[in-house]
Amino acid sequence: MRSTLLLSLAFGLATSSPLEKRQKIEFKSVAAAAESVIATLPAAALGPTNVGVVATTQPPATSAYNLPSAVSKATSSITVANSPNVSLAPTTIPGNAKSAAAKRDIEERDASSAAATTTSCAQYTGKGPVVASTVISDWVKDPILTAAATDAPTPTGYVQAFSNLPGSLQMMGYLTVKSLDSYDTAKCADYCNNEPLCMGFDVYYERDPGANTTCSLPDKNPPSITFIGCTLYGFHVNGTLATNTGQWRDNFQVAITASNGYNKIGVKHPDIYNNIPGFYPPVELGNASIDALFWPPAVFQDKDALGRSKLYTYMGMRSLQQPYDPRVCASICSQQTATNAAHPDTNADGTQTYRPCNFFTAYVLAKNDIPVGLQCAFYMLPWNTTYATNTGYYDYPHWPNQDVSNHYTIYNSLAFTASTFGTDKADFGRNDTLKTAYLADPNAWQLS
Ligand SMILES: *[C@@H]1O[C@H](CO)[C@@H](O)[C@H](O)[C@H]1NC(C)=O
Ligand SMILES: *[C@@H]1O[C@H](CO)[C@@H](O)[C@H](O)[C@H]1NC(C)=O
Ligand SMILES: *[C@@H]1O[C@H](CO)[C@@H](O)[C@H](O)[C@H]1NC(C)=O
Ligand SMILES: *[C@@H]1O[C@H](CO)[C@@H](O)[C@H](O)[C@H]1NC(C)=O
Ligand SMILES: *[C@@H]1O[C@H](CO)[C@@H](O)[C@H](O)[C@H]1NC(C)=O
Ligand SMILES: *[C@@H]1O[C@H](CO)[C@@H](O)[C@H](O)[C@H]1NC(C)=O
Repeated sequence: MRSTLLLSLAFGLATSSPLEKRQKIEFKSVAAAAESVIATLPAAALGPTNVGVVATTQPPATSAYNLPSAVSKATSSITVANSPNVSLAPTTIPGNAKSAAAKRDIEERDASSAAATTTSCAQYTGKGPVVASTVISDWVKDPILTAAATDAPTPTGYVQAFSNLPGSLQMMGYLTVKSLDSYDTAKCADYCNNEPLCMGFDVYYERDPGANTTCSLPDKNPPSITFIGCTLYGFHVNGTLATNTGQWRDNFQVAITASNGYNKIGVKHPDIYNNIPGFYPPVELGNASIDALFWPPAVFQDKDALGRSKLYTYMGMRSLQQPYDPRVCASICSQQTATNAAHPDTNADGTQTYRPCNFFTAYVLAKNDIPVGLQCAFYMLPWNTTYATNTGYYDYPHWPNQDVSNHYTIYNSLAFTASTFGTDKADFGRNDTLKTAYLADPNAWQLS
């Protein structure tokens, strides 16, 4: 483990200057900022609410993720960043992140006893086996329910992340919920395969009320039904996040059991990323991000052999607490180029230049296998796989004690090169050789 120790030291020493000699993005602080955002996400962003009603009163639930609104949120705060000193789009916490978290913890019983008519009281049905016990600890352990989880096959193309937990996921990256007719992991995998953003899913039984509790006489505690949930996520899932163990609805207690999680194997590069306007299809970087700053190499030296300043290509990064979707990173990159181009810098000699975003990477940053965000890193020039060397690191909070460590990792790393380049005033470090070569044949810079 000696090499990882040295690595963690190197990261700890990384400076915050944008012109630092080694990039080595400090995932520790990125993750800490991301976690504070995640803690404020509303329940509806983490998983389905009131699924029993969804299952019987609506067609299969529609996606909880909306690309246009994700793009609009991600690009709303972009400002001019034409100086290399200004890191593009810092990993800021959104202004609305202060709103109170609405986690689905056990709710208070509703003590009100408003009169209700039985005639109009909505009835619900479930497809799972009904277990009559009203003792929740017995219901959760009932072998009819738990055997379904322990017997379930792992679908082809997936690995099991967790098995038979008494809670469903509450996790960033929630996409949608489907109602299953049986405890069918293969069927849920089909749904996941048909949703390009899906990276993992949760199948579970949920004890739901067979009627609207508010109007269920005499005691607002109707007989239970069993809903079979299939919930899709835009990140890999982990059982640590299977924390939704139910809640009260009036006098009825919702509960969950037999919760199984599965993750798609390997880097996924769905077709939707091949036609992002303004960008070539991506190059897969696997479990590594780019670690390079200055063109031409050596990439961590800001001056060439003659002492001349080289082009600082890095434009900063963003951490987005939403499903993994590089199209959002692309919109930031394009918007940043447009914003910079509209407000060029005026140089000492009167010429004007701006910094174009011509390349970005999109990957998942995970801390101890828990996703903390969609990371987008932006650059003025494309970097190829040779420079995809940052695979994360171990951090020892009690260093030099090694009693505990946090492990930061990366997956689904994709690299995108712009297919159209800013020309006239685009700043290539005021290096005309580079600019001429670049603009003469932009395709030559496309990664392959
Ligand atoms: C920007 O960087 C240049 C060169 O590295 C430095 O001389 C200048 O003071 C910096 N400007 C600011 C505002 O930090
Ligand atoms: C449940 O019943 C109450 C009172 O009758 C009503 O206000 C409420 O909208 C109903 N909820 C659903 C989900 O049908
Ligand atoms: C979360 O993932 C890690 C790594 O795969 C695993 O060791 C851990 O057991 C998982 N947690 C749960 C509760 O499944
Ligand atoms: C990446 O680019 C560098 C510098 O242009 C080059 O030396 C290297 O061969 C390239 N690597 C790959 C895998 O294309
Ligand atoms: C990449 O990361 C994923 C998710 O953590 C992991 O399952 C996979 O084994 C990793 N691949 C490699 C080649 O390390
Ligand atoms: C200018 O760009 C060319 C082509 O990439 C490169 O060879 C040269 O070293 C660059 N000059 C400086 C001062 O960075």
